[in-house]
Amino acid sequence: MVDLTTDFAGISLRNPVLLASGTCGYGEELAPFLDLSRLGGIVTKTITPEPRAGNAPPRIVETAAGMLNSIGLQNPGLEGFVRDKWPYLARLDTKIVVNIAAPTAARHGEMAARLEDLEGIAGIEVNISSPNMKDGGMLFGCSPSASQEVIAAVRAATKRPVIAKLTPNVTDITKIARAVQEGGADGIAMINTLLGMAIDWKSQKAILGNITGGLSGPAIKPVALALLWKVRQAVDIPIMGLGGIATADDAMEFFVAGASAIQVGTTTFVEPGAAADIVAGIESNCEGAGVSRVQELVNTLRT
Ligand SMILES: Cc1cc2nc3c(=O)[nH]c(=O)nc-3n(C[C@H](O)[C@H](O)[C@H](O)COP(=O)(O)O)c2cc1C
Repeated sequence: MVDLTTDFAGISLRNPVLLASGTCGYGEELAPFLDLSRLGGIVTKTITPEPRAGNAPPRIVETAAGMLNSIGLQNPGLEGFVRDKWPYLARLDTKIVVNIAAPTAARHGEMAARLEDLEGIAGIEVNISSPNMKDGGMLFGCSPSASQEVIAAVRAATKRPVIAKLTPNVTDITKIARAVQEGGADGIAMINTLLGMAIDWKSQKAILGNITGGLSGPAIKPVALALLWKVRQAVDIPIMGLGGIATADDAMEFFVAGASAIQVGTTTFVEPGAAADIVAGIESNCEGAGVSRVQELVNTLRT
């Protein structure tokens, strides 16, 4: 028996595998395909203070070893989430991390304060990294001072663990990581999507309605690993790794690079049950390697 239990920034997980924000809706969408109680947890689609309709279509394009999306944070808004989505999530036998984004630091704080009323939320993931939001998201996550300010506002408003989700679209991600640690983040999730674009040269038009979007899937795994390894050396708080994880072997690579837990995103669109298979694969990989606790592997890269 391998011990898969993981304490991530005060969130106790039965195993270190979560579903990534925006790729599992609010749980209900995936439940027919996947036993959610087999997972460590799920991270909700980003919610914003007001409902958002998202960007103009087309909003998804397949790319080599990945996909581009420009959904634009379509969501029912904070009160719509509380009323229509939370009651289902609250009944699930898995940890629920709620992902939030807002146009100002203060409004992030207000959202976190409102969520204090809901019993059972395991943690708050702050999306300071969406490339598909013109009034927030990556705008904050590209600036150390703005990142710190947003995280500090959330920190002041909640007793729950606060996880900052970082963008790879910066010159030096370690500066952002240090800033969110300084702002009081308990953990980091990385990476969000890489800014990308697809073109139909015959019509000379961008394929996405929003022109640019976010690249995800196996194509970005090497970028995610390199950035994670750099951030691991720059901060003390735990890191959730994601970006292109499709197999249990991918997950093992993230543990070795320094991730204490991982999230599965785009792969779920290819195989809805993949995250549960990854949990089983991590267990058998550990068994095969004589590792009795998955956490022993974290940050063990030999250089
Ligand atoms: C269709 C789609 C929607 C997404 N929506 C969100 C979102 O609402 N909030 C967020 O923080 N990340 C969002 N992401 C980013 C993922 O959570 C993840 O960071 C990224 O896709 C990299 O992981 P992956 O390669 O495993 O998908 C979205 C990704 C995709 C593909």
